[in-house]
Amino acid sequence: MTKTKSKRKKIAVLTGGGDAPGLNAVIYALTRTCIMKFGYELIGYKFGYRGLYNNDFMPLTLETTSGILHRGGTILYSSNKDNLFAYDMVDENGVKVKKDVSDVAITNLKKEKIDVLVVLGGDGTLTSARDFTRKGINVIGVPKTIDNDLGITETTFGFDTAVNIVTENLGRLHTTAESHHRIMVVEVMGRNAGWIALYAGLAGSADVILIPEIPFTLEKVVEKINERDENGRPFTVIVVTEGAKPKGGDAVVGRVVDDSPDPIRYGGIGAKLAHDLEPLVNHECRSVSLGHIQRGGETSAADRVLSIRYGVKAAHMIAEEQYGCMVCMRGGKMEFESLEKIIGVNKLVDPYGEMVNVARSLGISFGA
Ligand code: F6P
Repeated sequence: MTKTKSKRKKIAVLTGGGDAPGLNAVIYALTRTCIMKFGYELIGYKFGYRGLYNNDFMPLTLETTSGILHRGGTILYSSNKDNLFAYDMVDENGVKVKKDVSDVAITNLKKEKIDVLVVLGGDGTLTSARDFTRKGINVIGVPKTIDNDLGITETTFGFDTAVNIVTENLGRLHTTAESHHRIMVVEVMGRNAGWIALYAGLAGSADVILIPEIPFTLEKVVEKINERDENGRPFTVIVVTEGAKPKGGDAVVGRVVDDSPDPIRYGGIGAKLAHDLEPLVNHECRSVSLGHIQRGGETSAADRVLSIRYGVKAAHMIAEEQYGCMVCMRGGKMEFESLEKIIGVNKLVDPYGEMVNVARSLGISFGA
């Protein structure tokens, strides 16, 4: 194990990409450990990499981070648009161009005498973290996303809170679906990974779970609805991941955010499915998209604990000078892995894995 180096350090922190419950808890734990155990000084750049580019920051102290542990969102604000290696600018002719402005960020880090940059984010944010490492900056990454789709690490913070929110809402939708004998389609986040739908679908006893990893057919979904009708359960709750697609078809794109590292935002599969199903069954079909509700509000207890562990581990990695790495959880333990190795490694639901088999054992349909 690497020994703790005793040098006094100045740390900069930023949160990038979509927010996730637990970001504040990581900031809280990282700040407290850095100050109380190691005597470091910290600042937080606002709005992710944009703050680093504009040198817009706030002090992170015991006072400024007091009372934030339970709060969702991020006190540092976030942006999912600002890739400093391909930054949106307007040239002298008024034309939109992408420019590599990473050296401006490096100049700012030097000006503020920053020894280590801690980056809390998902794949886009961590890719830039890797690129800053390649330019000689001491970077530590912390994996964030409600989607739980980052490889190497077992669980990302934010996921448990999102699953709890979806589970609670599935319960609410069950009672109204039953009252009206309706088919209720519930669209959830997750991009190309079905983790939220699968976990919440299980916990919230969905009848059908549709995930991107298992392309569905309308026929199979109708089969399940008919089976429930015949068994005296004339209502059905379907949970569908935003990135789910029919066999041989495409996912539904909700919007394109041009200046984002990953511009595609899925959205609309729930409404489309309800529309397509209605003529095929003897029920009114309605849809609900839970959207950003899944990322808002208070952080679950499990995510608070996980985030605290991530934050404390990041502080120890700073002390041990384990730079160019991301904190990760392996076998339930906090470890780290090189940023070079983690980029592009996704974690998707195994269509033949234990979790899908568990759901199938309960009679849950995957529409395939
Ligand atoms: O990656 C997290 C996530 O919440 C996805 O599940 C979702 O597709 C996306 O971010 C939404 O991003 P935005 O906040 O830009 O709408």
